[in-house]
Amino acid sequence: MGSQHLPSSSMLLLLFLSSFIHMAALGRTPSSTKLLYIVYMGERQHEDPDLVTASHHDMLSSVLGSKEEALSSIVYSYKHGFSGFAAMLTESQAHQIAEMPEVISVKPSRSVPLLTTRSWDYLELGYEQPQPTGLLVRGNFGDGIIIGVVDTGIWPESRSFDDRGYGPVPSRWKGTCEVGQNFAVNHCNRKIIGARWYARGLDPSLIEGDYQSPRDSEGHGTHTASTAAGSLVSDASFHGLGAGTARGGAPRARLAIYKVCWAKAGCRDAGVLKAIDDAIHDGVDILSLSLGGFLDPSFASIHAVAKGITVIFAGGNDGPVTQTIANDIPWVITVAASTMDRSFPTLLTLGDNQTVVGQSILYESTDGGFKELVDGGSCSRDDLNSSDVVGKIVLCYDPVIAKSSPPNQQFILATINVQEAGGKGIIFAQYSASILHYIDEICNGTVCVFVDYEIGTQIKFYVANTRSPLVKVSLTQDMVGSGVMSPRVAAFSSRGPSLLFPDLVKPDITAPGFLILAAVEDSFKFESGTSMACPHVSGVAALLKAAHPQWSPAAIKSALVTTAHTANAYGFPIEAEGVPRKLADPFDFGGGHIDPNKAADPGLIYDVDPEDYFKFFNCTYGSSTTCDLVDSRLYRLNLPSISIPFLKKTPLTVWRTVTNVGDTDSIYRAIGESPPGVDMVVEPSLLQFNASTTTHTFGVTFTPLQMVQGDFNFGSLTWLDDGKKHAVRIPIAVRVIIHDYFSDTS
Ligand SMILES: *[C@@H]1O[C@H](CO)[C@@H](O)[C@H](O)[C@H]1NC(C)=O
Ligand SMILES: *[C@@H]1O[C@H](CO)[C@@H](O)[C@H](O)[C@H]1NC(C)=O
Ligand SMILES: *[C@@H]1O[C@H](CO)[C@@H](O)[C@H](O)[C@H]1NC(C)=O
Ligand SMILES: *[C@@H]1O[C@H](CO)[C@@H](O)[C@H](O)[C@H]1NC(C)=O
Ligand SMILES: *[C@@H]1O[C@H](CO)[C@@H](O)[C@H](O)[C@H]1NC(C)=O
Repeated sequence: MGSQHLPSSSMLLLLFLSSFIHMAALGRTPSSTKLLYIVYMGERQHEDPDLVTASHHDMLSSVLGSKEEALSSIVYSYKHGFSGFAAMLTESQAHQIAEMPEVISVKPSRSVPLLTTRSWDYLELGYEQPQPTGLLVRGNFGDGIIIGVVDTGIWPESRSFDDRGYGPVPSRWKGTCEVGQNFAVNHCNRKIIGARWYARGLDPSLIEGDYQSPRDSEGHGTHTASTAAGSLVSDASFHGLGAGTARGGAPRARLAIYKVCWAKAGCRDAGVLKAIDDAIHDGVDILSLSLGGFLDPSFASIHAVAKGITVIFAGGNDGPVTQTIANDIPWVITVAASTMDRSFPTLLTLGDNQTVVGQSILYESTDGGFKELVDGGSCSRDDLNSSDVVGKIVLCYDPVIAKSSPPNQQFILATINVQEAGGKGIIFAQYSASILHYIDEICNGTVCVFVDYEIGTQIKFYVANTRSPLVKVSLTQDMVGSGVMSPRVAAFSSRGPSLLFPDLVKPDITAPGFLILAAVEDSFKFESGTSMACPHVSGVAALLKAAHPQWSPAAIKSALVTTAHTANAYGFPIEAEGVPRKLADPFDFGGGHIDPNKAADPGLIYDVDPEDYFKFFNCTYGSSTTCDLVDSRLYRLNLPSISIPFLKKTPLTVWRTVTNVGDTDSIYRAIGESPPGVDMVVEPSLLQFNASTTTHTFGVTFTPLQMVQGDFNFGSLTWLDDGKKHAVRIPIAVRVIIHDYFSDTS
């Protein structure tokens, strides 16, 4: 797994850095060296948080010898949502603590990378003329809901966080506004109702140059917060592109900011845990985390969910390779990223007046005229050395890289090589257009245009057959609407199945995450990634919570997953980018593409009692012995999906319970789409709901039709009501195996 964020050069550095920290934590260390460890002790034993902390101090004192030692080594005490602490310990001290009966686990702290607004109109949550029965109105624009954003902080002056017209801060709010460098108490307002920052335990050199406060120097946190809940900002654009009104999904929701990620240091899990612990205390309804996937201690999120907080994570940016999905735990919503109906065609006119179209984000040009054009081959240093590229536009065309999709590294290298050789611009041939976000990060004054291989070939041919080849690059036009084939799961979006938990369908859902326009400092910027898709779901979850205050996090997830669509507006099945492009399956997009208005009225809900999460959690985490192995299979959880990774000869039945949240008297019929090679029977296949019967349990029995080793196949189960108002669909993945030793996930 890798970066969860735009691979700007600093982020690449961050990657190396975090893997270094990672290795340092795992490797042999001298016994006197102290490392940051996270100690987890489950539910807290005292009502009073101060007593919880006191118990942590006592425990540490007993190991370290004195209270002073204990106080100087403890970094964070987790005392609101769960009990535990982070402390600087030697390896042997960590072992000693791990032996204590009340301790569930002790692990070294790790660092994870970080992982507009056309998108809301695209999701049919248009603000100008909101549908009266749509989610935006039903959810009262998110009014009353508090979204916690765990990220790089906030730029409070952005127009997206203007609090004009807001009522008082909800009285149940127990958070605070921590001050610091360039961040005063008046930077919190009725929109940003709380802000905290977490720098303890970090090497000071990693955070110098960043604001020692909740203020965002990186831009990521401001972008994600404004996507989830930004106020309306008219006339937002990136240098004229993507122009329109920018706003968040739940534009009246309040924001609580937890700055745990730092431009250079990444996000240390000791701090992420403290942020979640604080968020539980403060009273957030939704937690949005656009950060990386090495967060081993998933315990914080389970406690948050058990307390009614819907937790939403980005799924990672390591696609399109299979089994790269991050944050793949059952109680959270894991979000994939997709494209939407906006494209950035950029016209290239060759010297012979033929025109071809590429993609770029070119909003200013030094001069609009013809430039010399040269074939730079693969644009390796060697290739560029053999021709004069100074002041010219260079075609970079390397069929060998076609197999890397998206060709992130190759594009960065080619651009740097062209820049070093004095080139004026680069025309880069590749298969996937979903790397446009690099332009802003890498090109910096160099004209960068992506073309597909067909057009690349055409240009190559023109250059080869022309004495003095020329090209003119026109400014990008921004094209929006039904003419753009969308959505597609973005090439970079991480894919399932989960390596750890193949009996989960992950990701859960996809949402717009490609070239999203949102706030960064005082202006607006395009960014791409599952980091951008995640706050879309957070905004919608806030609306759902406002419309249905009694819904649990599992109910909100169920509503989102079961109403997601798997075909586009034309009825074409949604595709997943990659080489080659293919039809998207549940391991690309879970239930499908988010459909907020339908989610407001899902008909049936697959709810989960948090106790059931704990049953599973207790079996897999720490040293609990109270575990019935059969019950620990994750496909037994009442999730809105079914994944059976090891179906053998004997038929297997999984049970699900649905709760009617639609019309009181209704009848639903099962429509099963069996995975190929598997017989699937739903029993009963007709569910009748009335005032006295609001839930029904049914079984789904899978039997292999052929014994063929190891390949996932996909199907679905839809409950359709008699009025055909509701189609409650869950994705199904089944892998038949004969032998245990080999399986195929691709
Ligand atoms: C290209 O078009 C321009 C204007 O339409 C014309 O002046 C020029 O001669 C043409 N060049 C070629 C090579 O056809
Ligand atoms: C480029 O070519 C020159 C000779 O023409 C050579 O001296 C130089 O080392 C080469 N540079 C690179 C980066 O290959
Ligand atoms: C971009 O170019 C400008 C001017 O050439 C330079 O000052 C700046 O440092 C460059 N930024 C990056 C990230 O390379
Ligand atoms: C899980 O373990 C905790 C102790 O860590 C215990 O309090 C809880 O009751 C257990 N829950 C279940 C469902 O087994
Ligand atoms: C409600 O539905 C259940 C079965 O779904 C049925 O047994 C029961 O008779 C129904 N009650 C009424 C009042 O119709």
